[in-house]
Amino acid sequence: VIDIRKLYAQGDVFTHDPGFTSTSACESTITFIDGDKGELLHRGYPIDQLASKSHYLEVCYLLLYGELPTAAEMEKFENTITRHTMLHEQMTYFYRGFRRDAHPMAIIVGVMGAMSAFYHDSTDISDPRQREIATHRLIAKMPTIVAWAFKYSIGQPFVYPRNDLDYAANFLNMCFSVPAEDYEVSPVLARAMDRIFTLHADHEQNASTSTVRLASSSGANPFACIAAGAACLWGPAHGGANQACLEMLREIGTVDKIPEYIARAKDKDDPFRLMGFGHRVYKNFDPRAKVMKESADEVLDLLGIHDNPTLQVAKELERQALEDPYFAEKKLFPNVDFYSGIILEAMGFPTSMFTPIFALSRTVGWISQWKEQLSDPAHKIGRPRQLYTGHPFRDYVEVENRG
Ligand code: ACO
Repeated sequence: VIDIRKLYAQGDVFTHDPGFTSTSACESTITFIDGDKGELLHRGYPIDQLASKSHYLEVCYLLLYGELPTAAEMEKFENTITRHTMLHEQMTYFYRGFRRDAHPMAIIVGVMGAMSAFYHDSTDISDPRQREIATHRLIAKMPTIVAWAFKYSIGQPFVYPRNDLDYAANFLNMCFSVPAEDYEVSPVLARAMDRIFTLHADHEQNASTSTVRLASSSGANPFACIAAGAACLWGPAHGGANQACLEMLREIGTVDKIPEYIARAKDKDDPFRLMGFGHRVYKNFDPRAKVMKESADEVLDLLGIHDNPTLQVAKELERQALEDPYFAEKKLFPNVDFYSGIILEAMGFPTSMFTPIFALSRTVGWISQWKEQLSDPAHKIGRPRQLYTGHPFRDYVEVENRG
């Protein structure tokens, strides 16, 4: 590892690294990825153990504070998060200003940014107590923000948070409960939802997290930084891939069409890519994809959905792609988004809700990284340089002398 800052200070180095493929932008103690091994650790704990033995709010605590909580610490944290789940009532008017057919991510990015107007006490980042409150507010309110974007888009009344339900069950209740009918959250679906949150909680310096850190480096307030991260997440090469993946699986439709799509993905003249395949860091199985695949089987079984054609296409596509030398040579494996859409669809979410659910889950990662960056006394404003490829110096030409 070369510390470019020292060489730069001597005035004799300039690195050009589009896409930051080999540039570290920060030191971090939160998440470790070994892309060759296919390993993901949060504060040292492997993701498969966290997904099977822990739960989302405990993982939030771990990411934020560095250690697993004691029972008393967990109870206190859960109480704090539960107390902050309501949104300012005025925010309901803010939602109503959007078109009903807006993509829920468009609404969410707007609402998250607007939180700095509703909770302006937490915009004072010089006060550690306010920084802590902003953290709790974001984790607590995201399920409400996302569920309300969903309710608004389908023309149903907003459902207020319920403090007697756990984090995932409360989210499902706010999404699927309607005043006219009794709705009871299935504990198995709540567990599957919680696992999806856990698997997406953090992933070191991905594009959206780097966006949060860059925005925060200017001293921007936490809500503005997280809104910037969410806007970045929405892109199809990042968090938008789960929606794009399910749409692709549906478009393929039947297993006999798979070879045609694999051939397209390999064709250099066709921009088509297999969605849910490939990763900048993982050059082996994404450990989250393995858990997600098991979860897909569990959820579909529970719901009595057997022979789901999308799941069949996904499994067969995975099998054929992994046997194909193109994917082996380029080390392209299924990523976390490959199976998550199948679970979310089975739960009753439309594809437009997939990226919002990712944003909800990732909020803790963003805010943990934001918190870590602010606590580093050496942090400075992010300001990448460029390799200029335009015109060299030239004199201005009067209009009558042009052409
Ligand atoms: N299908 C077919 N070919 C692919 C795919 C794919 N999904 N992904 C990469 N390749 C090929 C590229 O064409 C390229 O080929 P080349 O060397 O012949 O030019 C090579 O593999 C390397 O691809 P890059 O785009 O340079 O790799 P990068 O690390 O920049 O991209 C990315 C990673 C964006 C995830 C890419 O694999 C992709 O577009 N995947 C599909 C979208 C997706 O699933 N995104 C979710 C990512 S995970 C997440 O955000 C949670």
